[in-house]
Order: sequence, then C-alpha cells, then structure tokens
Amino acid sequence: MIRSLLYVPGNSDKFIAKAHERDADGIILDLEDAVLPSEKAGARQRLAQSVAAVGQNGAMVFVRVNAAETGLQDDDAAAACLAGAHGILVPKASKPEMLQALDHHLTRVERQMARADQMRLVPMIEEPGAVLNASAVATATPRNWGLLTGGEDLATSMNATPTPDMLRLPKLLVHLAAKAAGLRSLGLLRSVADFRDVEAITAATLEARQHGFDGATCVHPNVVPLLNRGFSPTQAECEWAREVVDAYARAEQAGLGAITVQGQMVDRPVVERARRILQVKQTSVETA
Ligand code: COA
Ligand code: MG
Repeated sequence: MIRSLLYVPGNSDKFIAKAHERDADGIILDLEDAVLPSEKAGARQRLAQSVAAVGQNGAMVFVRVNAAETGLQDDDAAAACLAGAHGILVPKASKPEMLQALDHHLTRVERQMARADQMRLVPMIEEPGAVLNASAVATATPRNWGLLTGGEDLATSMNATPTPDMLRLPKLLVHLAAKAAGLRSLGLLRSVADFRDVEAITAATLEARQHGFDGATCVHPNVVPLLNRGFSPTQAECEWAREVVDAYARAEQAGLGAITVQGQMVDRPVVERARRILQVKQTSVETA
C-alpha cells in the first residue's frame, strides 16, 4: 500500500533525520523544486546516506530528480539508483521519449552496479500539453509504477491559480490515464501547498479515494496520518464488505447472481469491490 508519500527536501538534515518516524508509506527525497540551485550538488551527494536513513523503518524511498532540461537528471538518477532508492519521481514529464531515455540510462547504471531489482518511475504531469498526452506518458516504459499531477507547476505553466476547481479536470484526466495503464494514481484534487487545513485535506482524501486514487503526496508530516487513515478502508466499509462477501457466497450456492444487502443490489462487480476491501484490510493487518 502506498497511501502517503512525504516530500523531504534532499538538503535538509533536520527533516531527513526524523523522516523515518513519520509513518509515511513512502518518502520522496527532493532534489528539485524544494532545493536551491546552490544546494543541489550537496543534496545529490547526501543520497548515499539519506536514502537508507529515511527508509530504515520500511518506507519506500523515491528521489525526485531534476527535470531533463536542466542537464542534471541523469546524474541525479544514477545517484538515486546507486543509493538503493526504490524509484524516481520524474518532473515535467511530457513525452514518452523522455522516459524511454531515462529507462535506457537506468538500465546501464543497474547493469554496471549489478543491481537486482529495477528502479520504478513515477512521471509527474506538470504542463497542459502533458495532461493531454498523459496516456502516452503513462505507457512509455514498463518501469512506470505510478503517475501524478504536479498541481503547482501545472497552474504556473497555465498562468492559473491552483484552486481545487482549476485542478479538478487535469488531475482527473491524469488519473484516468494512470488507471488505464494499470499504474498507481497518486494525489488529491487539490494542491499540496496548504498543508494545515486538516478539514479540507480529510474531505479531499475521501473524495480521492472514491475516485480510485491509491494514495497522495504531502509536504508536511502532520498530513501523513490523514492520508494513511483516508486511504484505508473504514470499519463500516469492512463490515459491509464482510456481509456482502458472506451473503454472496450463500447466494451462489443457491444459484443467485444478484441479491440485496443492506437495501442495495449486489452483483459481481459489487462483490469484487467488497473482496478488494477485505484484501486491503488483511494486507494492512499483516504488515502492521
Ligand atoms: N519532512 C520531514 N519533516 C518535516 C517536514 C518534511 N517535509 N516538514 C516539517 N517537518 C518537521 C519539522 O522538522 C518539525 O519537526 P520537529 O517538531 O521534530 O522539530 C515538525 O515537522 C514541524 O514542522 P513545522 O515547523 O510545522 O514546519 P516548518 O514551518 O518548519 O516547514 C515547510 C514547513 C512547508 C517549509 C516544510 O514542511 C517543507 O519544507 N516541506 C517540504 C517541501 C517540499 O519538499 N516541497 C517540494 C514538493 S511540493
Ligand atoms: Mg515543481
């Protein structure tokens, strides 16, 4: 499960030191927008220690590399790979060719270091053209693992303000592209920037989960528990799911394909959703 991904600026020793205690399912060590140009080389060098440090309690570790156009991306990606990160967030991903070039580069690095597992990629969609091209980006390489919209950059590139209303359509288009490609879809239908509005984040997490988002990124540790809770099935959902699965098993025995549970129709896709809820619940109990 990847319900919560916490951004940690890659040059912040203070944030890095305690990041593993924040209970995030994933940590994103940022080398890009949260790190000033003068700090970027140092942040890249630190990956050798920071990747292991933030992952010591079992969180997945991603590194957000710099965009291809900066000329820093290949060296950032190689450093992330050598440091043992699970994957890379690729900002300003707009064309499949960009991801394919990164894929080939990583294949060379992995071969040189005899790394057993493949680095995963999470392209970030941050321009209007990339939103419209999200399907091609999502299917560019088998390394793609998740997909997300960079709301702040998207708004800036469109001379827009990243209100929930402005972000809704592009984020849902990117979400559909992720789901169509079988990737994890990450995000809320709002910006990550106003991280103190607990009520709005809680509501947006519920909304995102109802749309089928798998988890979301955040910039502050206070948001992590909101995401972990919001992207997990509730007690009531688990009880409903149990009842549906049990009732459907009895119905199948009796030769029935559609039944009523709690006043609502239950047929195959409904049972499928109920089974998935129980499976997620089971997995979270096993890994807790
Ligand atoms: N990762 C890890 N720890 C963090 C953190 C983060 N992103 N943000 C805050 N913390 C820690 C602080 O170190 C502090 O810890 P302590 O109480 O143990 O000393 C605690 O959380 C409270 O921090 P707070 O004072 O509320 O935050 P701040 O005002 O210092 O910082 C931000 C606010 C937004 C500047 C900061 O959270 C941040 O830099 N976030 C990441 C930004 C980023 O990566 N952006 C790029 C992606 S969009
Ligand atoms: Mg950005």
